[in-house]
Amino acid sequence: MGFLLIVGVSFSIMANSLTSMVGDYLFEQRIRTDGASVESLAVRIAPLLARSDTDALYDQLTSAGGELGGRLLVLDKDGKVQVDTYMALNGTRITYPEVASVLVRGDMADYGVHALGSDGEIRKISNFLFSRAQDTTWVGYCTAGIISQSDVIGVLLLASPVQTMMSNLYELRDQMLLIFVVVAVFAVLFCLIFSQIITKPVTALTKGIQSMARGDFSTRVKVQGSGEIRRLARTFNSMSEKIENLDQARNQFVSNASHELKTPLATMKILIESLIYQPEMESGLRTEFLTDINREIDRLSSIVSDLLTLVRMDVKDVKLSRENMSLAGLVKDTEHLLTPMKEKRGQTLVLSLQDDCDMYADRTKLQQVVYNLMENAFKYTQEGGTVWVTLQKSGRSAVLKVQDNGPGIAAEHLPHIFDRFYRVDKARSREAGGTGLGLAIVHQLVMLHGGEIRVESEVGVGTTFTVELPLHQG
Ligand SMILES: Nc1ncnc2c1ncn2[C@@H]1O[C@H](COP(=O)(O)OP(=O)(O)OP(=O)(O)O)[C@@H](O)[C@H]1O
Ligand SMILES: [Mg+2]
Repeated sequence: MGFLLIVGVSFSIMANSLTSMVGDYLFEQRIRTDGASVESLAVRIAPLLARSDTDALYDQLTSAGGELGGRLLVLDKDGKVQVDTYMALNGTRITYPEVASVLVRGDMADYGVHALGSDGEIRKISNFLFSRAQDTTWVGYCTAGIISQSDVIGVLLLASPVQTMMSNLYELRDQMLLIFVVVAVFAVLFCLIFSQIITKPVTALTKGIQSMARGDFSTRVKVQGSGEIRRLARTFNSMSEKIENLDQARNQFVSNASHELKTPLATMKILIESLIYQPEMESGLRTEFLTDINREIDRLSSIVSDLLTLVRMDVKDVKLSRENMSLAGLVKDTEHLLTPMKEKRGQTLVLSLQDDCDMYADRTKLQQVVYNLMENAFKYTQEGGTVWVTLQKSGRSAVLKVQDNGPGIAAEHLPHIFDRFYRVDKARSREAGGTGLGLAIVHQLVMLHGGEIRVESEVGVGTTFTVELPLHQG
């Protein structure tokens, strides 16, 4: 609307000044021709007026009036009509400003345009803008001083109709008005279309952002067309999708974590209640209960410390304390740690450490990686099975493979294997003491070292985890 107002105001200023410019031009022409004739006639009739020869004056004026196409009047120096070619105003006093300017101000000549029938004198053409063509009769008054022996003895006044000139101006005004209306209609249309194109998508986006701020992460905005706004909307949609996923993952994580913590707590509660309500329990059974409670506590604290490790890695709080170390040595140390488990399950380990793979890395964290992978291999492979661990250089990387001939992992589980709390067979894995955090931690630690981890598996054949770590890091 503001736009329309500006267009309207500027257009009417333009129309006004253009019309008055054209009007002034037309009148200037007229003033020049009329003025010249009236002035020369005034010189010719000066001796007649000086002599007060009204008859001769009348004859002169009627013939000149016919040529000029108007009414001629001669006034004396008091403004009284001496001769009127229409013979109507003889003896009356004329007080037009054009007369006054000659008699009072001493001008040689003057010109003015009047609207007949109304009192208002209209000198400025621009003022006519708000009048109506058919209501007004326009007359131009041209005056010249009649001079005899350097004294002004009277005024010669030519009143000629200027209706055609004015109607031209009216026509011009009406055309301008028409153009203005057309422009205004276009301006309104333009505003509407413009606001549809620009404002609508912006409003949609704003609404989207507001509902997102209220916590509705499922918000998506639909923006048609092309260009920047659409790109912005697409970016917004992909952002809200990511936030939604993140939100879901967070909720999932919290519920999983609580669930994992609840299980050992529930077991412990049952065991402790039995101890409380059976005071005369035999000491063998009591020790067994206490041992179970102790195991559950260990389990709880291991879950909590795993969670802490993950959370710290999430907030990028983890600093690697790098040192020069041999990856082959680390694998051998881990083998020692896992020997009791391996022997208990009657499994075989085949080590093939082709290169030492000296690296500059965080030994404790890499040990966690190797331990988790090898522990999984023993834990999930049937008794009597085999685990192969190979280490070799490949280009600028150390490649560690942990392979087993266990049950394998079905293809649908593989994409989730590094997710937190993800276990293929929940019951079996929990029985084996697993919480599904091991591989999530391994994945994060490998990333932290700038490495990569992959898994290949076939059900009934076995599983291979491959870790690639950069050899030399400054
Ligand atoms: N070598 C493997 N063979 C078969 N399944 C495996 C193997 N390694 C891991 N898995 C499956 O992947 C799941 C996730 O392993 P992950 O190490 O993350 O958790 P976990 O061993 O159950 O518990 P945690 O390691 O935290 O004690 C396991 O529960 C198991 O089902
Ligand atoms: Mg594990």
